[in-house]
Parts: sequence; structure tokens; C-alpha cells
Amino acid sequence: MTELPHLTHVQHPLVQHKLTLMRDKNTSTAVFRQLLREISQLLAYEVTRELPMTTKRIDTPMEAMDAPTLEGRKLALISILRAGNGLLDGMLELIPSARVGFVGLYRDEKTLQPVQYYFKVPDHMDERLVIAVDPMLATGNSSIAAIELLKKSGAKNIRFLCLLASPEGIAAMKAAHPDVPIVTASVDSRLNDNGYIVPGLGDAGDRMFGTK
Ligand code: URA
Repeated sequence: MTELPHLTHVQHPLVQHKLTLMRDKNTSTAVFRQLLREISQLLAYEVTRELPMTTKRIDTPMEAMDAPTLEGRKLALISILRAGNGLLDGMLELIPSARVGFVGLYRDEKTLQPVQYYFKVPDHMDERLVIAVDPMLATGNSSIAAIELLKKSGAKNIRFLCLLASPEGIAAMKAAHPDVPIVTASVDSRLNDNGYIVPGLGDAGDRMFGTK
């Protein structure tokens, strides 16, 4: 399989337009959710570039042909809870046969370190392309810990998909997991003192689930 670069910044106009609407603090929960669903499909398209292909023999109404098809086991989409679920829903519409796993980590608000509370992933992780999803790559602490757990479960071929990334998070991920390509819709300016991405979009989980 051709490798993705370590960082892919998706600059497609539709992605950027939708992201601007999502960032706006006046965007309602319902619209935020809908945009997230749409943008995650566009990002799913990018993160699944360069998948290995094979051919299979089929009969069209006209004649037989060797037609292209995806090779290997079904993809594993791993949602890093809880905000990852927002990306997951849209991705599953595009890749309905994907297997799904969940990594539950919450961020200790004082230390900003991840604490694990749930882990369930599909079998044969070593044979699947594993796409871990979390809208916000902020400090990188949770994503790094989640990928560590995925590697322990056997995953060898992992990609990480997010909406927004901070320069600090990208650097931390590169140091911890240089083998994991990151696909993002934006690289924002920085993290604030609370570990939030600036300008960002606020708390992704709160905005998609309407909590505070
Ligand atoms: N998590 C969020 O939801 N938003 C941020 O800006 C950082 C982490």
C-alpha cells in the first residue's frame, strides 16, 4: 500500500466551508451535527485514499470483466469516545461494512492526562486498516494513549482522522507514533492554557451533543 504522508491537511472548499460554519458559536446543535455528518464523509474519502485494491471477476449485462474492489479485511473504525462518535456516524454511511470499535478515555481537567474507562475493538486488528477518529487533536495525550492501546491489541496499520489539530498535538503524535498518518481539516494556531484549540470550535462533544 502507498503510504499517506505524516500529515494531510484537507483543503477541499466544501470541507473548509462546512468547518467555518461549525466553528461559528451561533451555529445550533442540530446544524453542527448535520455539518459534522457531512464533513466526516468528505474526510472519510480522504483518509481512505491509497487503500490496497484487487480485482474480481464479475459479469456486467454486456460481458465479463475483472473489476476493481477493495482488498483484504474490512476496515476498523475506532471512535475515541465521546466526540469520536460524531465523526463515526458519517463515516459509516460511506463505509457501511466497516467494523467498529470504541476507546473510552476522559481527560483529567487538572493534569490534562487521559484516563481509560472503556475499550472494545474488532478481532484481527493486525490484518485491518484501523482508522482512529477524534474531532480534536489538542494536546495529543488522549489520541496518543488510544493509539497505544490499539497497537497493544495488534493493530499495525493505523491512520488518525480529526477535524482540527493543534501544532502541539501534531508534534506530540509524530514523536509518539511516527508511523500513524494524520488527516485533518485544519491546523489551528495553538492551544490555550486549558488545552483547548484556538481559534478552534470549543468543546466538540458539548457542541455535538448539546451539553455544557
Ligand atoms: N477537546 C475539545 O473538544 N476541544 C478542544 O479545543 C480541545 C479538546
